[in-house]
Amino acid sequence: MNIESRRLFLKTSIIGGVLGFFSNKVSGITLTPSDSQGPFYPITPQKDKDFDLTTIKGQEGTAIGEIINIRGKVLDENLNPLEDVSIDLWQANAAGRYHHPYDTSSVPLDENFQGWAIIQSGVKGGFNFKTIIPGAYAASGSWTRPPHIHFKISKTGYHELITQMYFPDNELNKKDYLLQSKSSSEQEIMIAKKIESSPNTLEYTIILKSI
Ligand SMILES: [Fe+2]
Repeated sequence: MNIESRRLFLKTSIIGGVLGFFSNKVSGITLTPSDSQGPFYPITPQKDKDFDLTTIKGQEGTAIGEIINIRGKVLDENLNPLEDVSIDLWQANAAGRYHHPYDTSSVPLDENFQGWAIIQSGVKGGFNFKTIIPGAYAASGSWTRPPHIHFKISKTGYHELITQMYFPDNELNKKDYLLQSKSSSEQEIMIAKKIESSPNTLEYTIILKSI
């Protein structure tokens, strides 16, 4: 990360933290809090934005890294499922680098990693995608971001949500300034859940707030 993108990162992180501070509960339900968008929202056009980030249409290779399936659902604040929600997600590759011109990390890009998807929730608010566990990366000299996936979630009639999904049992979660700025119930909903019967699948629930 160069100095300019690091500054932008810190600035957007602080805004994310402040927004996170205002997230709240509705009738005892913890809504998914907002979290920093970071400086790497994709800006390079790409045709393939489907639910499988481990391959790119027209290429033979597979992304480097540990493949994982995310089984998600989107609910409203009354825990009713929300169909046709737009779910825009992006993440670093297994080495911890984004496919983005601001990311000047010296670790390699992965030409077979899609890095960005735009999908929709279906019946009962469900969505699925297949990806690799993103690598951790340095946000500053003393701060290493834990593996995470960025989300921008929108549906007419609901507040747009920009957030991040974290991975369970990662030691870096405990030292991450962004995640640790959230309450314990917020952290719980931001960290995907393991499924005993399916070790390569994680569950992730997003709760949106109506306008
Ligand atoms: Fe990030």
